[in-house]
Amino acid sequence: MRNKILNILSAAGTYVSGEEISRRLGISRAAVWKHIKKLKEDGYAISSVTNKGYMLTGAPQMLSAQAIEPMLTTRFAARNIKCMEETDSTNEEAKRCRTMPDGSLFIAEMQTAGKGRRGKGWEAPKGSGIYMSILLKPEISPESVSQLTLVAGMAVCRAIGGNAGIKWPNDIVIGSRKVCGILTEMSAEPECVNYVVCGIGINVNTPSFPEELSERATSLFLETGETHSRAELIAAVMNEFEPLYEGFLRGGFVGLREEYCRLCVNTGKVVQVICRGETTIGTAVDVDENGGLVVDTENGRISITSGEVSVRGIYGYV
Ligand code: BTN
Repeated sequence: MRNKILNILSAAGTYVSGEEISRRLGISRAAVWKHIKKLKEDGYAISSVTNKGYMLTGAPQMLSAQAIEPMLTTRFAARNIKCMEETDSTNEEAKRCRTMPDGSLFIAEMQTAGKGRRGKGWEAPKGSGIYMSILLKPEISPESVSQLTLVAGMAVCRAIGGNAGIKWPNDIVIGSRKVCGILTEMSAEPECVNYVVCGIGINVNTPSFPEELSERATSLFLETGETHSRAELIAAVMNEFEPLYEGFLRGGFVGLREEYCRLCVNTGKVVQVICRGETTIGTAVDVDENGGLVVDTENGRISITSGEVSVRGIYGYV
C-alpha cells in the first residue's frame, strides 16, 4: 500500500489530497494518514498542508561507504565500512565479523532486534536514524572498557555540537530529551580484551515519537526543524572519535575528564541512582578520573562506575 501511495505522489509531483488518495486506493483517510506517517519515518520527505494534501519532496538517502569515505579524516576509524539494508543488530553483526580490522564500522538502515542498555530494546525505524557499531581492538584492561563508552559519547556530542550534552554515562541529550544512546559490549579474558563493539544509535530525521517516548526522546530534526545528512554525521562522529580514542589509549580518561565534565548535564543536579532494583538519591557533584559519577548522598560521597546502573533526574529523565 505504501508503494502505491508513493507512486501516486511521485506521479503527481504536486499536492494530492488525502481524500483523493483514499478514493483511488479504496482505503480510509485515517489509513492514508497512517501510511504517510510511516513513510516519513522511513525517511521520505512528505509535506502535508491543510486543504491541499500531501506532496512528496524527497526520498530517503541510502547510506553507503562511498558517501561516507570522502568525508573521513581518520587513519583507521571507519576505514572498512559494511552498510546493510537490514540486520538484527549492528552490534551483533560486528561481533560476527570480529576478525575484521580494528575500526571497522557496521551500519544498518534498520535493525530488527536493536539492543539498548540494561537488556532493553532500541527502536530502529528504517532510514531516519543512524544505527552503527564500531569494532575496536584496544590493548586495555577489561575494567577500563566502560570508560571507552564515555569517549564515544564525547565524540557524538562534539559531532552534534550546538547545545548537546551528555547524561552520564553516555546518553546524548538536547535539553531534557535523549537524541542518542550508546551500547558498548566486549569479549574479554580475565586479563585482556579480545575486542570491543561500541554501538551508537542517533535519532536523526525521526519526525515524531510514540506518545510514551515523546517526553524523553528527541531527534535532530525535531530540534532544528531541518533534515540532516546521516552520512555527514557518521563521518563527523568518526572524525571526532579517533583522536579522542587515541588520547584515551595513550593516557586514560584523565586527559579527557575536563571536557567530559563540561559536557555532562548531571553535575549539580539531584539524581536517583538505580542499581539492581535499589534506588539511592543524591546530588551529582563531579565525574572522577576513572569516569565514575561522584554523588553526595545522605550516607556520604559515592562514586558510581558505569555498568548496569541507571541515573535519572528526580523530576524527569535528566
Ligand atoms: C541505550 O540504551 O541507550 C543504548 C542504545 C544503543 C543503540 C545502538 S543502535 C546501533 C547499535 N546496535 C544495537 O543493537 N544497539 C546499538
